[in-house]
Amino acid sequence: MRLANKVAIISGGARGIGRAAVELFAEEGATVYSLDLSHEDEFAQERIHSVDMDVTQLEQWNALVERVVGEQGTIDILFNNAGAVGSYEGIETIELEDWHRIIDLNLNGVFYGTRAVLPVMKKAHAGAMVHTSSMWGYVGASGVSAYTASKAAVRSLSKNVALTYAQFNIRSNSIHPGIIGTPMVMAQDESLTQDLVDKTPLGRLGTPREVAHAALFLASDDASYITGTELVIDGGSTAQ
Ligand SMILES: NC(=O)c1ccc[n+]([C@@H]2O[C@H](COP(=O)([O-])OP(=O)(O)OC[C@H]3O[C@@H](n4cnc5c(N)ncnc54)[C@H](O)[C@@H]3O)[C@@H](O)[C@H]2O)c1
Repeated sequence: MRLANKVAIISGGARGIGRAAVELFAEEGATVYSLDLSHEDEFAQERIHSVDMDVTQLEQWNALVERVVGEQGTIDILFNNAGAVGSYEGIETIELEDWHRIIDLNLNGVFYGTRAVLPVMKKAHAGAMVHTSSMWGYVGASGVSAYTASKAAVRSLSKNVALTYAQFNIRSNSIHPGIIGTPMVMAQDESLTQDLVDKTPLGRLGTPREVAHAALFLASDDASYITGTELVIDGGSTAQ
């Protein structure tokens, strides 16, 4: 088991990529705290704790970290994954309220989680962080202004963490999924999804589990010399 005796926090764990990671990390031996606004479906594994919280609230992160350290003694892994597209609008047409809401979730949520967990990892002189960006945080895309900006910022923030905290033996990497069959994607306009699948060399949607495996690799000791980089899981889309 690749995460035996590890303690992991995963945001956006109730569904989609986050849920697949919560289940996979627990299968690999980790004790996992799944964070989400709400958890409708129970997890089967005993080592999974569901925590209802909002990742855009720093005080909720601080309370969570206090709880996890109280219960488990430390935090080995942070997978900052909660996020949403939120709007496909470009710079001129996006509602300001949408812009701020998307930046708050996709970027500030990652910043808050990282800030809350860092002191624990520094004290332990060990830790691994994985942050979910997107292929649209790796290469440009037209429209989708707030999402692309937030996800590119996550990529950069991850490198900042890697470079600032390497001295504390804390690793930080970003993952960049392409088009993945999650509730978020299933809820969007079908023609938009089909268009992206048509442009994907492997010719299909990725699965949440395929993305979770990439996060598992980066979070595990298999990636012990990997920090400050990114892993693209996009069926070849950005190789073109
Ligand atoms: N599905 C894709 O094609 C795709 C592609 C690239 C990147 N991503 C990224 O992957 C991550 C997961 O996406 P997904 O497709 O699994 O989405 P999803 O909507 O299926 O799951 C996201 C989860 O995050 C939770 N969440 C949203 N706001 C929250 C908040 N304020 N506090 C706590 N939890 C919150 C949601 O409730 C949901 O359960 C996101 O960051 C997304 O941007 C997804």
